[in-house]
Amino acid sequence: MYQTGKMEKIMISIFFSPRGTTKKTARAIAGHEGPVQERDLLGRPLTEDLTVPAEEPVLVTMPVYAGRIPQHCFEQLSAHLKGHGGPAIAVAVYGNRDYDDALTELQDLLEGNGFRVVAAGAFIGRHSIFDRVAAGRPDEADLAAMADFGARCREILAAYTPGGDHAPVAIKGSHDLPPHKRVPFHPSAGDRCMKCNACANACPAGAIPKETPWVTDNDKCISCGACIYLCPTQTRQYRGEAYETAARMFEAKCAPRREPEVFF
Ligand SMILES: Cc1cc2nc3c(=O)[nH]c(=O)nc-3n(C[C@H](O)[C@H](O)[C@H](O)COP(=O)(O)O)c2cc1C
Repeated sequence: MYQTGKMEKIMISIFFSPRGTTKKTARAIAGHEGPVQERDLLGRPLTEDLTVPAEEPVLVTMPVYAGRIPQHCFEQLSAHLKGHGGPAIAVAVYGNRDYDDALTELQDLLEGNGFRVVAAGAFIGRHSIFDRVAAGRPDEADLAAMADFGARCREILAAYTPGGDHAPVAIKGSHDLPPHKRVPFHPSAGDRCMKCNACANACPAGAIPKETPWVTDNDKCISCGACIYLCPTQTRQYRGEAYETAARMFEAKCAPRREPEVFF
């Protein structure tokens, strides 16, 4: 938990950020004007109920995976994040392709669990599989847009009355969702693996065995890239011809700059 400033209400900020841009976004939105209690689902998954009183606002910031929020986060939040009519802010961070139905999925999850979604935003971060896509993002303009969104959210939260009228925010995306999809690319270790187990300890899917951390169980791997981010020798990477071909395709297709979108 980091706490700064003078605002009396604690904001609960929940995020999952294997490669850091989702956390950066959550922090830019939450700002430094009030106490914030962070819950990083990478290091501390939700395994027990987290019940939030109506007076505490919740900010949920998720990376977009195949146009949705990550399936395991969906499952944890659905099962364990419980509201009592308090306000929630839904945020998606995506790699400049599209956020598709991630925000509506998060909105429905939160509303279904007793929160009232008062604002939502989609922001752009470097693509965590194809890292030349949206390289350098979030940049200064993105961070300013996040801070501006956070300021507007604080105004809405200050005026929020639990139990008052609530018209659902109209957010771009579908509410009729098929099962989550997985991506076909998985990081592998090269010959510089020192068996330090940084990757195995961080993997949220239990896909890297501690005894043989140069191996990835691709059936379990969710392709989040936490292992790449943490590897001290940079030996964990995406590799292979199919990956390189897809990377070139994504770089071309996702070259035009997308801009943040906000909904109130
Ligand atoms: C498995 C996976 C699927 C992804 N799918 C999408 C997608 O559908 N659209 C998109 O624009 N970016 C997609 N991305 C990119 C991430 O949403 C983006 O890079 C995000 O900022 C990663 O957050 P992090 O840095 O906190 O890990 C995907 C990334 C991963 C790992």
